[in-house]
Amino acid sequence: MCAAVRTEADLSNRGEGMTTTGAVPAVAAKPRAAIGEKTLRRDRWWVAPALTVTGLVAWLAYGMVRVFSQANYYVAEHHYLTPFYSPCTSTGCLPEAAHFGRFTPDHPLVPYAALSLPFLLLFRLTCYYYRKAYYRSFWLSPPACAVPDRRPRYTGETRFPLVFQNLHRYAFYAAVLISLVNTYDAVIAFDGERGLGIGLGNLVLATNVVMLWIYTLSCHSCRHVFAGRLRTFSQHPVRYRWWLLVSKLNTRHMEWAWITLGTLALTDAYVMSVSAGWITDLRFVN
Ligand code: FES
Repeated sequence: MCAAVRTEADLSNRGEGMTTTGAVPAVAAKPRAAIGEKTLRRDRWWVAPALTVTGLVAWLAYGMVRVFSQANYYVAEHHYLTPFYSPCTSTGCLPEAAHFGRFTPDHPLVPYAALSLPFLLLFRLTCYYYRKAYYRSFWLSPPACAVPDRRPRYTGETRFPLVFQNLHRYAFYAAVLISLVNTYDAVIAFDGERGLGIGLGNLVLATNVVMLWIYTLSCHSCRHVFAGRLRTFSQHPVRYRWWLLVSKLNTRHMEWAWITLGTLALTDAYVMSVSAGWITDLRFVN
């Protein structure tokens, strides 16, 4: 961890620098040592930022294509709905895929899941891990420890537009609601034509939902929800146990962030492939 150039996301990831209100105080960066070279590091410090950029750009490109394709998002026979279209609220949605009604406009530039995607985007964009990822990898601010910041000044997240990163705690509540919707989608997909139905698609949807819950519960804001204002754990044993659990998940928040990007894309690709008729769903029961 860079001693003099840590971002607020870095600090929060480590639980350092937080005040009792959860705010992160401004960090006064020490001036850089007077050395001629840009960095004294000789290792391949650029690999991690390069991989991060590649992974995030590839995922975003895939997601944009899928969200705006408005096709192959539902398998009517097995009730599989891709998470990229959940909840499907557009008037253009197939009626059987619209579990919560159809009321958003049907337009090529309006996603079928227009109700959830902006909040999910906000949740991920303001996530403490992703902040660190794109501050370092896209903005090179700084790209790695002991490598200078590309920007001359560090203003933190106290000014426009980065002050909006503080919306994360509210995006967390929206993400919980959307995870409930995804859970509902995964559960009703077990409803086969002759009772309980289980196929590979069910396992894919269920795995994705479990991973989404783990990622959501491992959120830093979730830790605050469970124990943010407590003064004594001993008087709140239930909240303490939950705080211990989510804290344990929180230690691997970066991994969950990447794993869920993978499960989301794989789940969508599976539903798309079955819906388009490229593959048939492997059925175990009914
Ligand atoms: S800190 Fe990453 S989801 Fe909240």
